[in-house]
Amino acid sequence: MAIKTKLLYLLLPLTMGVLLASCGNDKTSSEAAVTAEPHRPVYHFTPKANWMNDPNGMVYYEGEYHLFFQYYPDSTVWGPMHWGHAVSTNLTDWEELPIALYPDSLGYIFSGSAVVDWKNTSGFGQNGQPPLVAMFTYHNMAAEKAGRTDYHQYQGIAYSHDKGRSWTKYANNPVIPNPGIKDFRDPKLIWDAARSRWLMTLAASDQVKFYASNNLKDWTHLSDFGQGWGAHGGVWECPDFFPMTIEGSVDTSWVLLLSINPGGPNGGSGTQYFVGDFDGEKFTLDRSFASEINEAGKAMWLDWGRDNYAGVTWSDISSADGRRLFLGWMSNWDYSQVTPTESWRSAMTLPRSLSLKKTSQGPRLSSLPVEELKALRGKQFVLQNQTVEGELNLTDKLGFAPTAMEVILEIEFAATGATDGGLALSNGKGETYRVGYDPVRLLAYSDRTKAGKVDFSPKFATGLHTAPRAARNGLVKWHLFFDRASCELFALDGQTNLTDIFFPNEDFDRLAFYTKSGPMKIIKAEFYELRRPGN
Ligand code: FRU
Repeated sequence: MAIKTKLLYLLLPLTMGVLLASCGNDKTSSEAAVTAEPHRPVYHFTPKANWMNDPNGMVYYEGEYHLFFQYYPDSTVWGPMHWGHAVSTNLTDWEELPIALYPDSLGYIFSGSAVVDWKNTSGFGQNGQPPLVAMFTYHNMAAEKAGRTDYHQYQGIAYSHDKGRSWTKYANNPVIPNPGIKDFRDPKLIWDAARSRWLMTLAASDQVKFYASNNLKDWTHLSDFGQGWGAHGGVWECPDFFPMTIEGSVDTSWVLLLSINPGGPNGGSGTQYFVGDFDGEKFTLDRSFASEINEAGKAMWLDWGRDNYAGVTWSDISSADGRRLFLGWMSNWDYSQVTPTESWRSAMTLPRSLSLKKTSQGPRLSSLPVEELKALRGKQFVLQNQTVEGELNLTDKLGFAPTAMEVILEIEFAATGATDGGLALSNGKGETYRVGYDPVRLLAYSDRTKAGKVDFSPKFATGLHTAPRAARNGLVKWHLFFDRASCELFALDGQTNLTDIFFPNEDFDRLAFYTKSGPMKIIKAEFYELRRPGN
């Protein structure tokens, strides 16, 4: 492999690169897609105004993907939590709707989930129509201020008869009172088909608790999971728990997603996952998975970047569709409240489709961008069989601004070749964001230290953010999405991912490949301009 690659490099002058398709040099369409508001993404969901954090209550019903979210309508920093609301019919074009849930005398409305109660087990249904039922955490500020942190979080439910537009809170809330645990929140509901009952996973300190119910109102505690497993550098939040068929087999495993803050892989917030079996009462780790994370504090990460937190999956995706769709909050509690946006704060990640891959180390979770995103593609530029040493400027070849762009890369690194290589986005102010591969340490990295505004928090740009195992056998196969202020990298079939945000003082409008200490061979690089949804 290495010898073959070396030969290719020697033949470089003869096999000069072929530029397959470049569609002119007109930048107007991408410029038009970018709003006057600095950093406002072109195709990621952001609230029109004010503060947003976790995605909540994601459920698919009657052709609509619902995205509720932690929302404070009166400020751009965290405050009394509401559930904001947006819907989409295609996972790309989001329409923001009026606020769905307001705080009340029991407390703020913290994170939670929603389901379609198809069998009307709750009795909340009306006129033969199933209700949507949401379960969330009440956070009682008065109790917290009074020092009663042992009972200030408890779980409530609410239901809707009009496709999530209006909600009625259950008269007998809370449905799960606090048993004396400070952090006791973020209920995630699923229908446990094998047992024909509801299953709920709740974060409690740095563990999870499983509960079961026949009617969404009366809950029985089943078991706990977490002690001694995975990362425990902070509190566990926003769990998700669901069965998945292992790709290419008939076997089913259960996946537990868990956000942790702090204690993420590159600092601050992060999301780990576990794979195992669930017998209806208890979750037991898959043996190979358990041996892999057997060292104290070792965890498997859904995303290595600093900006994918509190992500969970949609409920009630039809079995004909069959996907397990995920979306996270593209920020980090280390600095989320001081990021340099003016009228709103934070965006969601792209929707991703999860799968369980069979690997030689055992089952591993993969997340990949949903196919629907292809509808946003505009102009295209393709580069093939091009060897890069030093720098290859792509700005003029591209034919569109790289500000909002999708990139699919296949790059070969020779064992004795470059020690570093990747893509650099830059602007006229000399600011640069780099996403690259270190073939010596086999890691992907994201470097936002020179990408513009960094002074708003000492925790924002502390160094390179790295992800191990980002390529196989020197072959980098990456899928990337850039959107003014973010980069989402999907490597190793979605098993190694890295999501980071950044804030250039001017949009990045220049693009280059770079290498250090040797060449890399671009087998194929596809670049797509991405347009504002609906355009
Ligand atoms: C996670 C989280 C949740 C909580 C919510 C409050 O980011 O801390 O645990 O329910 O945010 O807004």
